[in-house]
Amino acid sequence: MANSVPASLRPFNTFGVEATCNELISFNDEESIQSWLKAEKPALDSLFILGGGSNLLLLGHIPLTFLQASIQVINYMEQQAGDDVLVTVGAGVNWHQLVLDSLNKGYSGLENLSLIPGNVGAAPIQNIGAYGVELKDRFVSLRAVELASGDVREFSAQDCQFGYRDSIFKRALKGRYVITQVTLRLNKHSQPHIEYGPLKQMLADETAITAKQVSDAVIAIRQSKLPDPAQLGNAGSFFKNPVVTEEQFQTLHDAFPELVAYPVGDKHYKLAAGWLIEKAGLKGYREGDAGVHDRQALVLVNYGQASGDDILRVAKRVRDKVLELFGVNLEPEVWIIGKQQIFPS
Ligand code: EPU
Repeated sequence: MANSVPASLRPFNTFGVEATCNELISFNDEESIQSWLKAEKPALDSLFILGGGSNLLLLGHIPLTFLQASIQVINYMEQQAGDDVLVTVGAGVNWHQLVLDSLNKGYSGLENLSLIPGNVGAAPIQNIGAYGVELKDRFVSLRAVELASGDVREFSAQDCQFGYRDSIFKRALKGRYVITQVTLRLNKHSQPHIEYGPLKQMLADETAITAKQVSDAVIAIRQSKLPDPAQLGNAGSFFKNPVVTEEQFQTLHDAFPELVAYPVGDKHYKLAAGWLIEKAGLKGYREGDAGVHDRQALVLVNYGQASGDDILRVAKRVRDKVLELFGVNLEPEVWIIGKQQIFPS
């Protein structure tokens, strides 16, 4: 059944900023989303689809109806042949609860993605990733309801066009589908991926590494530098790590030999935005209750009563300073939602 709740969005965004919308409607199953859409026939530009609110910066009153798919099912299906296990999960399941549940059942695959805030339904939209693994590496398919027709469509990995913190749902199909369920491929046996430096170091003395050990190590690393949104409002990395050409990289590297960067694809480099921001002297920078985290400069934080606009002001300051010093344009990773698009994304 559809269930309408008051429209304050403070409890629904991990930045913890006060914001409002016209209406927030939460659905417990796919059919109720379909019947609501078919009965109401709402204008597409009057709707916004809310996930766990962990990748959003909300600005004041947003004159839209927010829809949330709160579907809460987890179904495991061990495959007849081989070691694969498929898990089909409702969009409203908390991502980290899924990770823990699958590990408790003895299935590996999601351990590197431990403690990422947000809901399962939002995970494919930005192809969540951490410590050498991305959602796309475990993805099988998803179901989504088209807002315009109320019809259900199934998407394969190829249909989703996953990229670095990117998918078709951020581009051609932005705002056109509400994801209701996601199917992922897990494994009955542990297949550790510990190429990420600090993870390798932490597990160096272990011999047969279990998925649970990898998860515990990831949790420890995240807790050591990423603030817990329940204690300090934030939305994880605020910006994406920028990708530059080999030429730009060489110029920057000549000027700053200690630049942190990784080769990606063909003649391109991904720069650690956290390093650029720290080098620009902005780690721990604060304006009132909005600031740059003092242990991970890529994360912006709300120390208490900051508004969305306060956070945005700090974000612009960071972007401008990095552009001025390094000639590199930082693009937000979080979605900035307001009356109008203020920040390029
Ligand atoms: N660094 C600094 N100063 C800082 C932060 C980072 O110098 O304040 C340098 C360090 O050299 C560090 C390097 O940057 O070794 C990379 O930092 P880190 O390992 O913390 O990763 P990141 O590139 O800042 C990305 C993801 C995170 C993910 C981690 C681990 C993006 C935008 N962010 O951060 O994802 O947890 O890698 O895989 O790709 C998120 O998307 O919200 C998120 C937290």
